[in-house]
Amino acid sequence: MSEIQNKMFQEIRSKEIFNQVQQYSYEYLNSIFNRNVYPSEEALDNLSVFNEELPENSTKATKVIEQLNTYGNPATTATLGGRYFGFVAGSAVPVGLAAKNLGTYWDQAPAMNVLSPIGSKLESVVEKWLVNLFNLPKKTSAGFVSGTSTANLCGLAAARYRILERNNWNINEKGLRNSPKIRIVTSKQAHSTVLKAVGILGLGKENIEWVDVDKQGRIIPEEIPELDANTILVLQAGNVNSGAFDNFEIICEKAKKANTWVHIDGAFGLWAEAVNELKYLTKGLENASSWAVDGHKTLNTPYDCGIILCADQEAMTSALHMSGSYIVESSERDGMFYTPEMSRRARIIELWSIMKYLGKKGIDEMILTMNQRAKQFANEIEKITGFYVENEIVFNQVIVRCDSDKITENVLLNIQQLRECWLGGSIWFEKKVMRVSICSWATTESDITKAVKSFEKALEISKK
Ligand SMILES: Cc1ncc(COP(=O)(O)O)c(C=O)c1O
Repeated sequence: MSEIQNKMFQEIRSKEIFNQVQQYSYEYLNSIFNRNVYPSEEALDNLSVFNEELPENSTKATKVIEQLNTYGNPATTATLGGRYFGFVAGSAVPVGLAAKNLGTYWDQAPAMNVLSPIGSKLESVVEKWLVNLFNLPKKTSAGFVSGTSTANLCGLAAARYRILERNNWNINEKGLRNSPKIRIVTSKQAHSTVLKAVGILGLGKENIEWVDVDKQGRIIPEEIPELDANTILVLQAGNVNSGAFDNFEIICEKAKKANTWVHIDGAFGLWAEAVNELKYLTKGLENASSWAVDGHKTLNTPYDCGIILCADQEAMTSALHMSGSYIVESSERDGMFYTPEMSRRARIIELWSIMKYLGKKGIDEMILTMNQRAKQFANEIEKITGFYVENEIVFNQVIVRCDSDKITENVLLNIQQLRECWLGGSIWFEKKVMRVSICSWATTESDITKAVKSFEKALEISKK
């Protein structure tokens, strides 16, 4: 046995690092809800301790973990807490963190059933749960990927495969050169990851037929050009700024008649379909062909967890297919046929655990609460002179601005420096705005009130 091998067996026998990590993890979780949301200047400066050359010799394991915790922990952003409103960053349901921890020790890669029977089983089960929860066509398949960026890519890859196949063109064999033209229609508010997927797939951003949006950022149905069977129409469930939903009921039915492939980017908004009071927002989504959604946003799975759902299983698995003489295909699910990667981590472990833990009622309640907190935030902030809410609060997003771009910019900077909550900015119809995304199970009424006070303080500071 080599020295390093011996050392590693010894780490397991002594249990020291595992107990150490468990203790650090609890301490972190217990502190995160009351802690400043953004790291202090000191914590950021201290990150310089990581600027070192790769050591010549092995380091003591407890020292490695200790350094990570001492300097890493304070330099994390408190996305798990109740006052992180940046981007659309979900928290993590506690059972998901625990299950992920267990899954880390299992270290499974659900590429093939034979490589991870448990991973494969959970993927099959959750696929059915999701299809049911989102009321999608019965034969819809799911691929478990890192996020909606990849899920959008997979949805559009399946669309590209099917449209070209109908034109007697096998994209996998012939490539794009001289292929029949695919039209892409989407709104001027499409998320940039959709455009990225269009670029990666060689469909060409220049070819996009852009459609105007209304004041909430929803595609205007009457402005959508004539659709046909060679078109991919990309719609949105949840605008990244306003949270608005395109009108699937009208648009998807029309698209279906034209045999157009509709892909819905529902990174955080697709979950509205799982909430009784909010499912009016997603009415008609079952008439689309593919849907992209994240677990790590609204469902609050730990990072990373995205899902591609596709009604045309053959198109999806053909678009993502690979083979090799050493691949062992089974009669059960082999996850790699539903994702671009062969090896990937078994994120299904946390996803399954959280869905099982919450159940339909828990999912409904958790997401509706986010919606109520967003409405609370909008109500409270509008009572303060100098703040304006720019969108209808249909889901979890609130857009706020001040009297001028300059003041908005200053106030945002002050909020960030106060560190009592954290959010970012954006541009909304040519005005600078602040984006408040309520996407954490942990956000309470008092978190909202505390955040609103921080906004007020930030406005006062900007006047000095
Ligand atoms: C509408 C929309 N689409 C796609 C994405 C990208 O998702 P991910 O970061 O999981 O890749 C986001 C992220 O916020 C989003 O809001």
